Formats: sequence, structure tokens, C-alpha cells
Amino acid sequence: MKAVILAGGSGTRLYPVTISINKHFLPIYNKPMIYYPLSIVMLVGIKEVVFIVNPQDLEKFEKLFGDGSHLGISIKYKVQEKPNGLAEGLILAEEHIKGDKVFYLLGDNIFYGHNLVKVFKEAMTDVETRGGAYIFGYYVRDPERFGIVEFDDKGKVISIEEKPKKPKSNYAVVGAYFFDEYASQIARNIKPSERGELEITYVLEEYLRRGSLKVKLLGRGFAWFDAGTHDSFLEAGNFVATIEHKTGLMIGCIEEIAYRNGWITREQFLSLVKSLDKSDYGKYLKRIIKEEGL
Ligand code: G1P
Repeated sequence: MKAVILAGGSGTRLYPVTISINKHFLPIYNKPMIYYPLSIVMLVGIKEVVFIVNPQDLEKFEKLFGDGSHLGISIKYKVQEKPNGLAEGLILAEEHIKGDKVFYLLGDNIFYGHNLVKVFKEAMTDVETRGGAYIFGYYVRDPERFGIVEFDDKGKVISIEEKPKKPKSNYAVVGAYFFDEYASQIARNIKPSERGELEITYVLEEYLRRGSLKVKLLGRGFAWFDAGTHDSFLEAGNFVATIEHKTGLMIGCIEEIAYRNGWITREQFLSLVKSLDKSDYGKYLKRIIKEEGL
């Protein structure tokens, strides 16, 4: 399975903050927002990643991640000329996906929770063996902001709606989707919505029609943020800071994950740490070196 991370868009909901900077580079506490979805991809064990980026941000992404070899992974970039919607990413990434299955993640979504990786890995295995699409629902107070999934009394999915004015449930579809190899083809056949975008929910509706959409609810033990508004951005940062202070462990530390996954050597890890060692982030990595007796 490959991963595609959506990091384009115009970020208008964060204006004026994002007039001159792409939101994915903004810090969620002590690291760029985009580290968090990348860390999830790495935690589930995927080593081939495609970022969908705006033309003006390509160079900055390359500066941040390069080809990914320093993390023991392969990173490719695909430019999205205009913010034509999340589903367009599936079409744009097709040449890199090459008929494989995909873990599709939104660059402004932050996940945290006990067993989260296990839950995602189970979904990944399910799609790898059985095909279809696998998504996650999360109870929210403000369902008008999200894609919303509706269930019948037996828990069967009846509908998926993008930002409904009258939501049929409080279960938002979070920005982490597992798709089989038909997702790009499905995305090609959908039409833009009233807001002129190829909506990811339309792709999900098609899987639902085909009877191959699975939804798992993430319970109260999980934290999920769509950091695309001022409040949720701040809340996500505060959340990460609180957990990190309490536990002394970092969330979304991609260098640590690369090392613990055995994807980079001790020497590579040491040189990464050296390049970062003036910041608290680098000091944390230094602590790992000490504790591991490297
Ligand atoms: C997107 C999706 C929506 C999903 C949300 C999760 O909305 O279109 O279905 O629930 O991400 O973050 P956006 O935040 O791009 O408006």
C-alpha cells in the first residue's frame, strides 16, 4: 500500500494567517503540521508517500522532506494547480500509486489515541485483503463542518453527506481513508459539487453504492483535530503540548519513528539529531540517543 497526503488547498479558513504561508508548514506546538499525518503513515509502516502540493509550495516541501531518504522512505510530490477538491488528489497521484491500494490522508488532520496504529493497521489489512474503502467516524459537536455519515438502527451506513446544513448524525468522517485500487477511477467519474470541488465524500458514496464501504467509529479514547480553523489549530497545539509535557514523549516525531522502525541506521539518526540539536526538538532526539545508549 502507498500513502497520499493532501497538502494543497488555499487555507482560506485560516486567513490572514495563511495568505503568505501554506498552513501545513505552520507549527502545531513544536513541529510543522504536516509532520503529524506523515508520522501516522510511517507508524502504520508505509514507506512510499506522495504529497499533493500547491505549485508555489513545491520547493518548500522539497526543502522540508527532500526525497525522504533521510527518513528511510520514498517521498514524491505531485502539484495540484488549483484547489479543485480532495478527490482530485486521487487522480493526480495515479501515476505514483500505479494501481496499488492507498492510505489517503489530509495534511491538516491530527490523530492521537491508544491503539490508534492498531486500528489503522487493521483497516489497512482489511482493504489489502478484501478491497473496498475503509473510513472512520468520530462524534463531533459541529457536524456542519465535516463529511457526515448516517447509520440505521443496525449500525449500517445509509448516507454520507459533505458539510450538510441539516446533519443526519454527529459522526464526522475523519481525514484518513483506506482505498482499494479503484479509487482513482471512481474519482475520475465524479462531478464537481456546488462549491466547484471534487468532493471526497462523492468517492465514498460510490463505494457505499457498490456495497464496499466500511466505517469504524473511533470512540472517546481518541483525539482527532482538523486543524483548519483558528480554534481547532490552537486546540491541537495545546493538546500536543499538554500530552508531551505530561509524558515526556513526542507526538509526530518523524525522525524518532524512522529510527525505531529500523528504517535508518544509527549513523543516519545521529546526523539528523546533530542538524536539529539547538531546539527542544533536537534535545528530545538527543535524549533518545542517551537512553538507548547509542
Ligand atoms: C474535508 C472533507 C470532509 C472531512 C474533513 C475532515 O473537509 O471534505 O468530508 O470530514 O475534511 O477533516 P475540509 O476540511 O477540507 O473542508
